[in-house]
Amino acid sequence: MSGLNRELEGLLGGEGAACGADGCGPVGDAARSGQATAAGAKPARPILPGATIGVLGGGQLGRMLAHAGSRMGYRFVALDPTPDAPCGQTAEQIVAGYADRDAARELARRSDVITYEFENVDAGVAAMLETESYVPQGSALLHTTQHRLREKRAIEAAGARVAPYAEIVSLERLREAAERLGLPAVLKTATGGYDGKGQWVLRSADELAPAWDEASRAGTELVLEKFIDFEREISVIAARRPSGEIRTFPPAENIHVRNILHLSIVPARVPDAVTAEAERLAVSIAETLGAVGLIAVEMFVAKDGTLYVNELAPRPHNSGHYTMEACRTSQFEQHVRAICDLPLGDTSLLSPVVMGNILGEHVGPLLDWMQSDDPEAERLGVAPKIHLYGKAEAKTGRKMGHVNVLADDTASALAWINESTIWRV
Ligand SMILES: Nc1ncnc2c1ncn2[C@@H]1O[C@H](COP(=O)(O)OP(=O)(O)O)[C@@H](O)[C@H]1O
Ligand SMILES: [Mg+2]
Repeated sequence: MSGLNRELEGLLGGEGAACGADGCGPVGDAARSGQATAAGAKPARPILPGATIGVLGGGQLGRMLAHAGSRMGYRFVALDPTPDAPCGQTAEQIVAGYADRDAARELARRSDVITYEFENVDAGVAAMLETESYVPQGSALLHTTQHRLREKRAIEAAGARVAPYAEIVSLERLREAAERLGLPAVLKTATGGYDGKGQWVLRSADELAPAWDEASRAGTELVLEKFIDFEREISVIAARRPSGEIRTFPPAENIHVRNILHLSIVPARVPDAVTAEAERLAVSIAETLGAVGLIAVEMFVAKDGTLYVNELAPRPHNSGHYTMEACRTSQFEQHVRAICDLPLGDTSLLSPVVMGNILGEHVGPLLDWMQSDDPEAERLGVAPKIHLYGKAEAKTGRKMGHVNVLADDTASALAWINESTIWRV
């Protein structure tokens, strides 16, 4: 076992306290005898419908998780500081901050199993929940994915490639690393970044000092990455059960605008060999990290087909929203199945699809479109399916919903999106 695996194993070690509330499923034979069923597997611990799933975070991911799980007979309670949060509209909600220990304890008391819908869970709260409740995902994977350097080392330990990188602790080190890796390169904060926040693209030597000045004020470690001149960006979402069973969803091809996901195109327009390799890497990463639940693996496809893993997310992912209508099992149902230790669902694609994100600025045109006939959709043979998250304020750049455009082929779905007035702004 590598040092990293040992560290992960140690962190994953503590099984949660026994399930106290009604509705918690029986503990399997393997658990009683203490036997694992496969390499790295944990004893079976099915959580059956009727049980309550506690969710740290009450955003759209929690909301869609609650929709999928409620249909299967689970109850949901979310912890989120914003009253009437997207998930709070479809589940019970405890209104409190994420670092509030008493509120987290209350969530543990009311839940048979706990999951999270964002990565930046307070480490103290995660550790407390692990002892006072059942958190099958554990806190080790969170610890790894909360920090870009730890994450890159874990990806490399799983046998996958990352963009060449260096840890940056001073302007001098930044200069050395820029020299060694070459420009352009991307300076990133190791923690707390999302939607391109906490990133500086460096194209020439005179940009190093100003970027260092700004980035070093973020108060976290920094990492410099070589800029990958990628052909495409793709992501694969894998699900893993405590027993070790793993399934992947078809890779999505992702197009970002201003660093925010705009479209996910499925099937991704990459050769079959790239699809197979991307799925293989996602499985290897899920296994090596001992993931439970979903893990999204973002990758760059270089011009020669080489895959570089960019980052991981141990939760449902925006690039997996296409699964809601286009796969036999959605990513949300799959996450419920994985954490409840039920057999994973079939991930086959039912239809080509393009997912388009609805940001604040797209809501007005979307509502106009919803009230009108759409002969173009009929002509192209596409079926756009609307998902809105119940957020009150449509701020520019805020994720308000998405549209899954089902079609006979992705070209028709893309043609509809290009001609639509929704994304013109
Ligand atoms: N090393 C890189 N080379 C090329 N493009 C990059 C690189 N790192 C990030 N990007 C671009 O920036 C986007 C956001 O970066 P990412 O690391 O995924 O951060 P986050 O999604 O947390 O904001 C990526 O999806 C990609 O388009
Ligand atoms: Mg990303």
